[in-house]
Amino acid sequence: MTGEGAARTIADRRSTRSYSSEPMREVELATVLMLTTGISADRWGNARRTAPSSGALYPIETYVVVHNVDGIARGVYHYAIRDHELELVRAGDFRSAVVDQAIGQEFLGECGAVLFLTQIVQRMRPKYQDRSYRYGLLEAGHIGENGYLAAAAQGLGACGVGAFMDDQINEMLGVDGVEEAAVYMLAIGRPA
Ligand SMILES: Cc1cc2nc3c(=O)[nH]c(=O)nc-3n(C[C@H](O)[C@H](O)[C@H](O)COP(=O)(O)O)c2cc1C
Repeated sequence: MTGEGAARTIADRRSTRSYSSEPMREVELATVLMLTTGISADRWGNARRTAPSSGALYPIETYVVVHNVDGIARGVYHYAIRDHELELVRAGDFRSAVVDQAIGQEFLGECGAVLFLTQIVQRMRPKYQDRSYRYGLLEAGHIGENGYLAAAAQGLGACGVGAFMDDQINEMLGVDGVEEAAVYMLAIGRPA
């Protein structure tokens, strides 16, 4: 993105709730993940990511529920950031489950994929103690905005979603809801 292109992407970004049935391409999802939370630099032997992180402790994990992406089977995946790879958590069609868990918001079953951000607070506690939870939520916000912009830069749509049933989402992702818990969702897909 040039400076002008970046400015236009930021100014034009909107929440998209209407998606085409045409699948997303694998490379589009890979680019969204890389720009949203991927490794962008090495400092003193430690990886740095596209989103800022207090103390570079990175408490946020990213999961992807694939609904309609060419070349990737439907299912729940964990994004392995260091290897830039999707690890299968469970295969299957989760379109209606995600809609139900997000209080009936239909577009969450019609988009290409849904990103789920979880927080592992313990990663920050030794350094930030009681501020850890707040810092983690702020970081999820940075990552979410990256997701919006990574989608918009490729002509894709995105919509951040906070209205979801915590226990059911955590169970679908295979996290315990205590040590690791979902904090934010982001629909991504080809706009209608
Ligand atoms: C934390 C957060 C939670 C949100 N939750 C939802 C949601 O559950 N459903 C939805 O359709 N939009 C949701 N949104 C998107 C907002 O409705 C949207 O950003 C707002 O209407 C402004 O529109 P814009 O993003 O197109 O500028 C959420 C946004 C944020 C930041």
